[in-house]
Amino acid sequence: MSLSSSSSYLIVGSGRVATHIQHYLSLKNIPFLSWNRREYSDDDLDETLPRVSTVLLLIKDCAIEPFYEAHLRSFKGTIVHFSGTHCFEKIEGFHPLMTFGPTLYSLEFYEKIYFAGASAERFHAVFPGLPNPVFVLDDTAKPLYHALCVMSGNFPQILWRDCLASFENLGVPSAAVSLYLQKNLENFIAHPAQSLTGPLARGDMETVRKNIEALPDHLKPLYHAFVDFYMPSLRTR
Ligand SMILES: NC(=O)c1ccc[n+]([C@@H]2O[C@H](COP(=O)([O-])OP(=O)(O)OC[C@H]3O[C@@H](n4cnc5c(N)ncnc54)[C@H](OP(=O)(O)O)[C@@H]3O)[C@@H](O)[C@H]2O)c1
Repeated sequence: MSLSSSSSYLIVGSGRVATHIQHYLSLKNIPFLSWNRREYSDDDLDETLPRVSTVLLLIKDCAIEPFYEAHLRSFKGTIVHFSGTHCFEKIEGFHPLMTFGPTLYSLEFYEKIYFAGASAERFHAVFPGLPNPVFVLDDTAKPLYHALCVMSGNFPQILWRDCLASFENLGVPSAAVSLYLQKNLENFIAHPAQSLTGPLARGDMETVRKNIEALPDHLKPLYHAFVDFYMPSLRTR
């Protein structure tokens, strides 16, 4: 663990978000310490805590509260988590509305990421060196907010991953699929109400039936569900 007496942050965890936030703080020349259970001991943690004013608990959601109870009850500084769903009495939540993939991002990109929090002032008090935009989200709105993040951001990826594998089996170049997906997203962002094309947009029942017939069994129920959701009058079952 690299120790610097000027560090005010301790980042706990070594997963996706911890890795990105460490990179972001490094790009901003903001000193921090880090601790994770794979590399360091509980004694290391106890030695480090008096040297920091803020602990960022960037660990999986269900471990946040137990970790606080086990290690941070007597910590006098600020404790922060980044979960989009959970709220804890003694731990402040700021949720970055972003996906943190395997590749690190540029400083310019990190600075654009929006955070959801109880107040922009609190975010900038906790992170005075970070210029990120903040939108206010009440604790009571968090469960729905996060469900929407998951459905809009994660669900399409699950579908894309499966479809890409099948495209690949058909010999369709991945560059062709990438261009298609990219333009779908661009068109949606530019014209959300008019961007949908294809048989559902046209109400073309015959093509919908042929599509479902052609699909492997594990994808049929998903196609049916979208038809039922988008156009119940075209119900296919
Ligand atoms: N990923 C995203 O795109 C994203 C976006 C916004 C917010 N978030 C939030 O960011 C936080 C971290 O998510 P993540 O995606 O970075 O998760 P992740 O990649 O799965 O990493 C989870 C980290 O938690 C650690 N951990 C799990 N249980 C622990 C315990 N009992 N004690 C100590 N450490 C423990 C893991 O350590 P081991 O490796 O030792 O298991 C690992 O370092 C979560 O609150 C999540 O909701 C994530």
